[in-house]
Amino acid sequence: MSASLVTVAYIAASALFILSLSGLSNQETARRGNLYGIIGMIVALVATAARPEVTGYAALLGALVPGALIGAALASRVAMTSMPELVAVLHSFVGAAAVFVGFGSYLGPPGQMTGIERTIHEVEVFVGVFIGAITFTGSVIAFGKLRGSISGKPLMLPARHLLNVGMVAGCVVLGTQFVGAAHGTDHAGLMPLVIMTAIASVIGVHLVVAIGGADMPVVVSMLNSYSGWAASAAGFMLSNDLLIITGALVGSSGAILSYIMCRAMNRSFVSVILGGFGTDGGVPAAGAKGPQGEVRPTSVEEVADELRDATSVVIIPGYGMAVAQAQHSLSEVVKILRSKGKDVRFAIHPVAGRLPGHMNVLLAEANVPYDIVLEMDEINADFPGTDFAWVIGANDIVNPSALDDPTSPIAGMPVLECWKASRCVVMKRSMASGYAGVDNPLFYKKNTEMLFGDAKKVIDEILAKVRG
Ligand code: TAP
Repeated sequence: MSASLVTVAYIAASALFILSLSGLSNQETARRGNLYGIIGMIVALVATAARPEVTGYAALLGALVPGALIGAALASRVAMTSMPELVAVLHSFVGAAAVFVGFGSYLGPPGQMTGIERTIHEVEVFVGVFIGAITFTGSVIAFGKLRGSISGKPLMLPARHLLNVGMVAGCVVLGTQFVGAAHGTDHAGLMPLVIMTAIASVIGVHLVVAIGGADMPVVVSMLNSYSGWAASAAGFMLSNDLLIITGALVGSSGAILSYIMCRAMNRSFVSVILGGFGTDGGVPAAGAKGPQGEVRPTSVEEVADELRDATSVVIIPGYGMAVAQAQHSLSEVVKILRSKGKDVRFAIHPVAGRLPGHMNVLLAEANVPYDIVLEMDEINADFPGTDFAWVIGANDIVNPSALDDPTSPIAGMPVLECWKASRCVVMKRSMASGYAGVDNPLFYKKNTEMLFGDAKKVIDEILAKVRG
């Protein structure tokens, strides 16, 4: 393929990636957006492989075919709830690739570059390896935390900010040594490059171990952003314009997503990065006040009756609905209630579940109509006029202490104010806390009833009742 044809293909792929991102921002267009992304990536891969300077097709196919097969097999088996873990692993690959490209580019045969051009290239190599190493180790730790193999508790070393500043300053000094030494063919800059890689790897580990479990979603999207910049840096090293553009798209969209998520949790980006919020989850946090009143358990029969009597119902799904895979049965219940003329809507918190858009994806998969799935800001004011608020496997996102207890670890996080409905039923298996490890006063409110059990099993039982 001629160089100009490759350029045209790269422009087409860039446009497809931009269309893909804009499509993914909306539920109705998400599938189309995904398709644009797939076509863009195929165009990008074919055009890159067809570049005049590419010759080693055996090696290329030897890497691409097993890689594609392993990727497809793993991605098709991964549960929605484990998606953040998969994403973290994929980010670690981008980071590792940027490190390898950097070392390969430095140790490979010297190109035609001289003078300032060469210096710029060496800065690109150094910065690319730096970002890549942080992304790699940070993503590996994020994967371990999300999987539960590393504790979700933040590791707070004394003087940790000073330690980070010291390490970054050390890397800057090594950078000046690398650029000063790198011009010879004896690779005198290799030692500073290797030492910087080791230090950047420690920075990556240290940055992420200091972050508490509750802030992990922001960290994953932040690592997403880093992986984009690492890919962009690799693009500069390889003089590949498409990689630069794609990396910049990923880098900036990851940064914007991190910002949106911070806003949804009412956390400042800086306080997330500086770390220290959240626990392992699953149990009440240390210092929690414990039960603050009486818990009223209810039964499937009572809930089915209440649903029959209600005119307006707002359903608040959370992580538990995803774990139980209750969305299909729930969709059936909703269909029946709507066929009886009831106003049934879903209220979606921006960080419900374990990844952005988690609930929207599950509800779309279960064919719930898009127009009854509303964002928090669209529906929060409607709770006072709602007969029945139905919380399914959600906890932190409906915790009133976020609004009325300034000492709560989630103080200030906007939540769905379901307790303002005439009646509220919370479905979960026990009194255990949610992801942030915070006790929930909603369970003790006068108009709240608890329906204990696995969400899928209980909704199936409710379905049988409302059908009958
Ligand atoms: P959580 O606060 O984690 O609460 C989920 C609840 O579901 C748990 O209390 C659990 O109680 C219940 N549950 C688990 N399995 C269940 C099952 N099979 N059937 C019924 N209930 C079940 O979830 P949430 O309210 O969706 O809030 C999300 C939290 O995750 C926030 O703290 C958020 O910051 C964090 N987070 C969000 C993201 C993104 S981007 N969405 C990513 C990572 C973390 P039992 O054990 O008693 O059943």
